[in-house]
Amino acid sequence: MNYARIAGTGSYLPEKVLTNADLEKMIDTTAEWVVERTGVEERHIAAPGETTCDLSEQAARRALAAAGVEPTDIDLIVLGTTTPDHVFPSVATQLQHRLGCYGGPAFDVQAVCTGFVYALDIANRFIQTGAVRRALVVGADTFTRIINWQDRGTCILFGDGAGAVVLEAASEPGIIDSRLGADGRYKELLWVPAGVSSGYEQTRENAAFVEMRGSEVFKVAVTTLKEIAEQILAANHLTVTDLNWLIPHQANRRILSATAKRLGLPEERMVDCVRTHGNTSAASVPLALDVAVRDGRIQRGDTLLLEGFGGGFTWGAVLLKY
Ligand code: UT7
Repeated sequence: MNYARIAGTGSYLPEKVLTNADLEKMIDTTAEWVVERTGVEERHIAAPGETTCDLSEQAARRALAAAGVEPTDIDLIVLGTTTPDHVFPSVATQLQHRLGCYGGPAFDVQAVCTGFVYALDIANRFIQTGAVRRALVVGADTFTRIINWQDRGTCILFGDGAGAVVLEAASEPGIIDSRLGADGRYKELLWVPAGVSSGYEQTRENAAFVEMRGSEVFKVAVTTLKEIAEQILAANHLTVTDLNWLIPHQANRRILSATAKRLGLPEERMVDCVRTHGNTSAASVPLALDVAVRDGRIQRGDTLLLEGFGGGFTWGAVLLKY
């Protein structure tokens, strides 16, 4: 069996920044409430006309440059998103076209905030079987496009962005283990009621926007992020002390803190970009990974645990040596 390793990372955030002071002018909230309850101080918002594919392309080009490979070296593109440019074709095929690396499989994965972790797991399996040698794995969302800017329970949390990694075949890990899960019974805690098959017409007001029962999502998120970390570590005869870095889905500062506390992990060993990114859905994990690689916190040889949690619910964990 082959292993897969991360050869390079990249990310991109749109230029426009929306601060909590800006939100104070839009909804009934205070900057203090938002920081205290979420940890978010600002988030990036895609410009009008700037799409998920645009963000993905920037992140992908940076990951390719970091890995020192050409687009034509890529055999597979797997892209996690919930906010594709079009109903079809997929963002992945359009990204392939932008990069000019034609012929290999390219597809999107829809697992909401777990999208990148699902995509990474899938690409890893393609490499393990020998089907491909090099994959581009992207998590990208323009999630603010499906946000109701009148809903103070959701609009404070989310931002836009993209992150990417180049994954390549290696003789040793790389990715040590990877586990995914889902439980569809939780659909209505976090969802967009409108859709292609059920109808875009507004059957009720704001059906095309994210609806979330925040405090209920919060509880399941904390429990799940703790459990999946413990499961994957135990299955690989490791403990929290073996981890150099935990990179959880950047949902809410309090979720990150509660997860670290329950795991007994010092918060200094958790990558936290919530303050400046907000929740960027599928982009959150690869964005945080790239930030910590580029600022030198994450070093080659470090043991990392990446964790996703999102609508569905979906979840996943990837344990790897960077
Ligand atoms: O990415 C997928 C995963 N998503 C998440 O993990 C999100 C998880 N949930 C959360 O992050 C939090 O639940 C929120 C930040 C969304 C909300 O925080 P909370 O502490 O759970 O607040 P709550 O929903 O229980 O609401 C408490 C109070 C309510 O007022 P009353 O009913 O007690 O009078 C809300 O109306 O806070 C009020 N509230 C606000 N007040 C000021 C809700 N949003 C705001 C706001 N500004 N923006």
